[in-house]
Amino acid sequence: MINYKDLGLVNTREMFKRAVDGGYAIPAFNFNTMEQMQAIVQAAVETKSPVIMQVSKGARKYANPTILRFMAEGAVAYAKELGCEHPEIVLHLDHGDSFETCKDCIDMGFSSVMFDGSALPYEENIKISRQVVEYAHKFDVTVECELGVLAGVEDEVAAEVSHYTKPEEVIDFATRTGCDSLAISIGTSHGAYKFKPEQCTRDPKTGKLVPPPLAFDVLHQIEKKLPGFPIVLHGSSSVPQDEVDTINAYGGKLPDAIGIPEEQLREAAKSAVCKINIDSDSRLAMTAAIRKHFVEFPSHFDPRQYLTPARDNMKKMYIHKIVNVLGSDGKLAQC
Ligand code: G3H
Ligand code: 13P
Ligand code: ZN
Repeated sequence: MINYKDLGLVNTREMFKRAVDGGYAIPAFNFNTMEQMQAIVQAAVETKSPVIMQVSKGARKYANPTILRFMAEGAVAYAKELGCEHPEIVLHLDHGDSFETCKDCIDMGFSSVMFDGSALPYEENIKISRQVVEYAHKFDVTVECELGVLAGVEDEVAAEVSHYTKPEEVIDFATRTGCDSLAISIGTSHGAYKFKPEQCTRDPKTGKLVPPPLAFDVLHQIEKKLPGFPIVLHGSSSVPQDEVDTINAYGGKLPDAIGIPEEQLREAAKSAVCKINIDSDSRLAMTAAIRKHFVEFPSHFDPRQYLTPARDNMKKMYIHKIVNVLGSDGKLAQC
């Protein structure tokens, strides 16, 4: 049993309270590789932002759970080495699919876990969420649960269409589970294809596809039911058109990739939404830089040659999100 506090990590409780009160959101960036980890830490340190580093089941399978845990421990040491004396880094399990996975992560030093029972019947979701919360709270680990279904694919959870969170259920769910934060469904979804072109309208000036707006009415109803309660948005990548264009220009094929417009995320961050999950934008930033590099430097075969611009491009994206979208820059409790 390793306690996250011994690794220099923090849970989400204090940072979420400050974020809700301050009208901004904490970035939750997925990571699978060392370069992502480095870019996240560099961005968080340079902007003096708290940060959530999250790992999915797929990341655990790809990188190995122990390696990821050591990477998070390394992230704290790296942040200090970069000059941040009091970094606030959360190591979070993204979309935990069982009590056992959540327990395994808690036991190996995670400071926060998500139990995603959103695809389960309501009572079953409550039962396992409660079990995770009871175990996690013994070690002061915070727990995110989910109510409502996002469209798209997330590990083994797949849904064709989203089912918005029902505001009338949130008080009962939050009270009976004892969860520390609640992921809701208001129209975001996972991946780089969040909307079909036929769901969008076309901006006559730019010719770009404009997706339908998020269900802010549902969000506001939930906020009224649970005043000040931390709300989480998954599936919040914006799928920047310039990265998609670069990928396509250098041999990729991402037709009609569409994300959540940043203005809408900016608006959400001002509400009780205090954690915004971003993974796909990091994948796009990395892939765009690597594809471009391969075409421009066909003789290169040292991974450091193409992973350096990939890391720099991800860092640029992380900083942009922190400063221009979420507003978590300069929000460390102590610098
Ligand atoms: O929620 C989904 C995240 O983007 C993680 O994706 O399961 O492919 O690692 P993954
Ligand atoms: P995106 O696919 O929009 O980046 O969402 C990531 C996410 O929600 C991770 O849990
Ligand atoms: Zn997610």
